[in-house]
Amino acid sequence: MGNAAMAGRALHEASPARLMLGRIEEASARASDLCRQMLAYSGKGKFVVKSLNLSALVEEMTRLMEVSISKSVVIKYDLAEPLPLVEADAAQIQQVVLNLITNASEAIGEKNGVISFTTGVMHADAAYLDASVTGDLLPEGRYVWLEVADTGAGMDAKTEAKIFDPFFTTKFTGRGLGMSAVLGIVRGHHGALRVCSEPGRGATFRMLLPIAEGSSATASVDAAAVEKHAPFGEGVVLVVDDEETIREVAVMMLEEIGFATLTAVNGEDAVAVYRQHADEIVAVLLDMTMPKMDGSACFYALRRINPDVKVVLSSGYSEEEATTHFVGKGLAGFLQKPYSPEALREMFGQVIGGGGQQP
Ligand SMILES: Nc1ncnc2c1ncn2[C@@H]1O[C@H](COP(=O)(O)OP(=O)(O)OP(=O)(O)O)[C@@H](O)[C@H]1O
Ligand SMILES: [Mg+2]
Repeated sequence: MGNAAMAGRALHEASPARLMLGRIEEASARASDLCRQMLAYSGKGKFVVKSLNLSALVEEMTRLMEVSISKSVVIKYDLAEPLPLVEADAAQIQQVVLNLITNASEAIGEKNGVISFTTGVMHADAAYLDASVTGDLLPEGRYVWLEVADTGAGMDAKTEAKIFDPFFTTKFTGRGLGMSAVLGIVRGHHGALRVCSEPGRGATFRMLLPIAEGSSATASVDAAAVEKHAPFGEGVVLVVDDEETIREVAVMMLEEIGFATLTAVNGEDAVAVYRQHADEIVAVLLDMTMPKMDGSACFYALRRINPDVKVVLSSGYSEEEATTHFVGKGLAGFLQKPYSPEALREMFGQVIGGGGQQP
């Protein structure tokens, strides 16, 4: 991801390769989300729950969706804005959207057809929830919903009764796991799912998620996505990571912001480099899992040299898991891997004293 992002910047605005690099970035982001997904399923990674806007989530996925459906299909969007937020794991909800759109596209096949995405808010009463697949135990009330409807082949009642069974498929190449995963995710979010279909008349899936506490009809969260490219970095950042490709990408990104860099390949190495250059180093970007001396041991060693050292921890684990060892011990920040140039820029803007906000 990092290499594709940086390669894109090195190209001329009008270069046609930029488009392809953008797609590589998107594809890697998707792969990274999928890995996180599989870790979540196997119980090896916690859900990363955030307040999010379903309309914005769908909107961000449009390009990804357009490449994953057949050419004869048109997607229509009717996304409510503003929409109350929901507490959800973005990667998992994306997975739901992808599984639903894939099925919809497969149900339309090579014919012409339409898939429509609609979002909104509704009051769901007991009868409505009872008729849904997972909603029987949910409280009545207001829910945010996302509906995916297609004009495909539809299904009869017998098929509809089985679609959530793992390995149930009517397709030659199907694995029958798509809807089981959808069900698991919706259940995990205390949501409900309604299905409506008839042979020859398409299918409609409506997912309901509870409104996040304290969210009325909040505007979308990602309003501040204004990109700023001016360099603001000053001084040296020490990049500590045992993976060479990660060091290289971090160095490229930091140098673009204006920092000079030094690198170290593990905790021990980092301590040695820091000892030599403590007065030039303004911050340390520190990996968590490394041979010889890991991130937390290295952090303590650096603090013994300079109690005010600014350390940004970086890990493929979620912030919650990665920072358990560091609670209250004065980390300057946390960067979830893989990170974008923008995320790195924003983090170091904060750490180095608000420089990220300057034009
Ligand atoms: N939008 C839809 N229209 C018609 N039938 C559908 C639709 N969505 C799901 N189905 C039916 O439900 C079955 C199960 O769907 P599911 O996504 O779980 O598995 P799959 O699509 O067959 O395989 P996989 O998703 O693992 O590749 C499908 O085989 C199909 O018969
Ligand atoms: Mg499927």
